[in-house]
Amino acid sequence: MRRGPSLFFTFLALAVLPAPPALSTPSPSPTPDRAIEAEIEAKVAALLVQMTLREKIGQLNFPSLAFPYEAQIEGVREGRIGNMLNVVDPRHLAEFKAAGRASRLKIPLILALDAIHSFHIAFPTPIAWAATWRPALAEQAAEMVALETAQGGVNLTFAPMIDISRDPRWGRVIEGAGEDALLGAAFAGARVKGYRKGGLATAAKHFVGYGAPEGGRDYNGAQISLSELFDRYIPPFEAAIAAGTDTIMASFNTVNGVPVTANRRLITDVLRDRLGFRGLVMSDFVAIPELINHGVAADLEDAARKALNAGIDLDMAGRAYDRYLETAVEAGLVPISEIDTAVRRVLAVKYRMGLFDDSPGGARRVPPPAGEAAVRRVAREMARESFVLLKNSGATLPITAQSGTVALIGAAALATNDHSWYGPAGLEKAATETLRDALAARLGKGQTLLFAEAFADPCGLSFKDKEGAIATARAADLVVLVVAEDCTVSGEGVSRADLGFSGVQSEMIAALAEAGTPVVLVIETGRPLALADANERSAAILIAWHPGTEGRTALAEVLTGAIAPSGKLPMTFPRSVGQVPISYSDLPTSRPSTGDRYTTGYVDEKPTPLYPFGHGLSYTSFVYSKLAFSAPTLKRDGKIDIRVDVTNTGARAGQEVVQLYTRQLVASRSRPMRELKGFQKIALKPGQTRTVRFTLKASDLAYHDDDGRPVIEPGKFRVFAGGSSAADLEGEFAVAGD
Ligand code: NOJ
Repeated sequence: MRRGPSLFFTFLALAVLPAPPALSTPSPSPTPDRAIEAEIEAKVAALLVQMTLREKIGQLNFPSLAFPYEAQIEGVREGRIGNMLNVVDPRHLAEFKAAGRASRLKIPLILALDAIHSFHIAFPTPIAWAATWRPALAEQAAEMVALETAQGGVNLTFAPMIDISRDPRWGRVIEGAGEDALLGAAFAGARVKGYRKGGLATAAKHFVGYGAPEGGRDYNGAQISLSELFDRYIPPFEAAIAAGTDTIMASFNTVNGVPVTANRRLITDVLRDRLGFRGLVMSDFVAIPELINHGVAADLEDAARKALNAGIDLDMAGRAYDRYLETAVEAGLVPISEIDTAVRRVLAVKYRMGLFDDSPGGARRVPPPAGEAAVRRVAREMARESFVLLKNSGATLPITAQSGTVALIGAAALATNDHSWYGPAGLEKAATETLRDALAARLGKGQTLLFAEAFADPCGLSFKDKEGAIATARAADLVVLVVAEDCTVSGEGVSRADLGFSGVQSEMIAALAEAGTPVVLVIETGRPLALADANERSAAILIAWHPGTEGRTALAEVLTGAIAPSGKLPMTFPRSVGQVPISYSDLPTSRPSTGDRYTTGYVDEKPTPLYPFGHGLSYTSFVYSKLAFSAPTLKRDGKIDIRVDVTNTGARAGQEVVQLYTRQLVASRSRPMRELKGFQKIALKPGQTRTVRFTLKASDLAYHDDDGRPVIEPGKFRVFAGGSSAADLEGEFAVAGD
C-alpha cells in the first residue's frame, strides 16, 4: 500500500527547506539592542561557568507555591528553585525575592501569576476586549492590570492567551480574541505591549493549536495542516514575538499526534528557527509529567528528556527536571550542552527583564500605580465598547421616557462580581455597582423601575420566584431580563456539549415572552451561545460578556442610551451546537448550500450562523458606498489602497467598526469564503460621512502551502466592505502575474 507523506516528512521538509521568502513570515523579535545583548551574553556566560549542575537545573525548575512554603524558600536559597508561580501575597513575594538574593549566586527569581484581566479591579474578560475591536484600548487595559499586579512583587504574567478558536464549546475562548487570525494578531501584539509597559514580562500562550481541540474538549488533540497552522494559528504568535514577548508557554495538547511539550519541530524548528523567537519557552502546568499520559514518555525521566530536547526551558510545576535531569546528565542520557542552552535562555530573559541589579538594559523599575480612578476609567471604557447589540427590533433600546415602566428581572442584576472565571486568588476585589442600582440611578425622573430576582442565584440554576417575575413583567411596559452563563462553565477545563442557557433561564425567557411585554435580553457570557430560541422570544439582545468591576455601570449607560453600543462579535454565534465549529472564513465546498438536498448543510438546521463574525448594531445606522481602489491590479511586491465611504444615516451619533474582507476567487487550493484584511473603528455624527482608507500589500494576500511556505498567487480578489463579515458592498481587484 502506498502511503501519503507522513507528518514526519512534512515537518522534515519544513526543517530542510530554504528560508521562506520574506512575505507574511517570519516577524522576528524586535531588533535587539546589539550592545546590550552582547553584554547580556557575556554576563550569562560568566554566571554559567560558576554554576553547579544542581544550580543549573534549579533555574529550569518552576514550582507552584505550596503551603507550608518554608521548604520552597530553602530550595530557593540552595539554588534548587529558580522561579515560582502563584505567589500573590506581597509578604510572601518579598520572602521569595530575598531568598533568591541570599542564594550562592544571588540569581533573582521569575515570580509569575495568571494576572490576565484583573487583580484588584476587574476588566471585562479578554473575549470582551476583542469585541471592542480596539487593540489600543486592550493595550491600555493590559498595562493597568500589569501595574496593579507588579506593585506587590510579581514580575511575569501568564498572558496573553492568544489561541485562535472557532469552537465555543471550548471554555477557554473566554481568554482569547476569538476566531480570526488578523483580529487575534492585533490583540496579541497590543496585549503584550500593554502588560510589558505596566511592568510585567509576558508569557504568550499556548503555542500552538490549543484552541482547536477536537470536539471542543479541553486538552484534546488538534489536527491542523501546516498550511492552516501558519495561516490561522501562528499569526498571533508572530505578533506577540514582534511586540517583544519575553516568554512563550507551550500548549498541553497534541498537534497532529505529537504533544507540543515534546514537539521539537514545533518548539525548536518553527518557533525558534523559523519565527525567530529568542526568549524562553515554558511548559504548561504539569505538562511534562503528562507526556506519560499522552503515551509518548515511559516515565518521568523520559518525559524530562523529551521536553528538554524539544526546547522546553522551564518545567512548570512538573518536578520532572528537578528530579531527573541530574541523574540523566550523569548517566550520559542528556548532554550538558542541552541544559546549558536552556539555562542560558532563562538567565538571558532574567537580564532582559532587568531582574539583576546590574542588568545591562537597566534594573527593572516598577512603574508607579495608575490610581484607582484611572484604572476604573479604562475598565469602564472597555466595558462600554465591548457590549454587542445583536438585535434591536423596533428600536426597543435605548430605554427612554417613552419606554414607560421598566421591569428589571434576574438575580444577576444584584451581582457585585463577575460570578465567572478566575482572577488571581485570594485578593479582595474592588467594589462594584449592581445593575439594579446603576439602572435606577440612570432612568429618567419619574420613570418607574420594578425589580424581580426570579432566580435563586445569579446564573439562574433554579427559580426563587418565577410567578413573581411574570407578574412584575406584566406590570411593566418593557422587561430587561439579565441571564448569565453558569458561573462554573467558563475558563479552563470546562468544555460544553450544550451551548444553551444553564438552569431554568430558558424557561424564564419563554414564560416572559408569553406574558407579552417586550423583552430585552442582557446576556453575561464568556463564550458564544446557541440563542435561536431566545432570539425568537426577545425584542432586543445585548451581549455583555463578563463585564468586570465597572461593567454594570457601563451596562446601565448603554441600556439608557447615554452610550451607544459599538462592540462587534469576535466569534460567530451559531444557531445550534451541531453547527460548531462554524466560521465566516470556512472554505467553500463543492456544493455551496442552497437549502436543497445534496448541498452542504443540515437537514434539520439552517447552514448560516445566527449572528456572523463582526456583527453588532448601534442605536444609529450606517450605509456603505463608493468602494474604490487605487488601481485595478497590484504587482506581487506591490500594494493597493482601498477606500470606502461610511455614512451615519440615523439620528444619533455612533461608532462603527468598518471591516474589509477579501476572497481569492481562483487559487491552487481552496481559499476561505472571506478573510478579514482590515478594520477601523470610527465615530460618526448623525448625517456625517467619512472616507475610510485601507492599504493592502500583496503579501497580506499570501497564504501558506502544504509545506508551510507563504505563497502569493496572481488572480482576482473580491473585496467586501461593511459592518460585519456578511458585508455586501463588493468590488474586485487582481494580483498580476510576473
Ligand atoms: C494552566 C493553564 O493552561 C495556563 O494557561 C496557566 O497559565 C497555568 N495553568 C498556570 O496557572
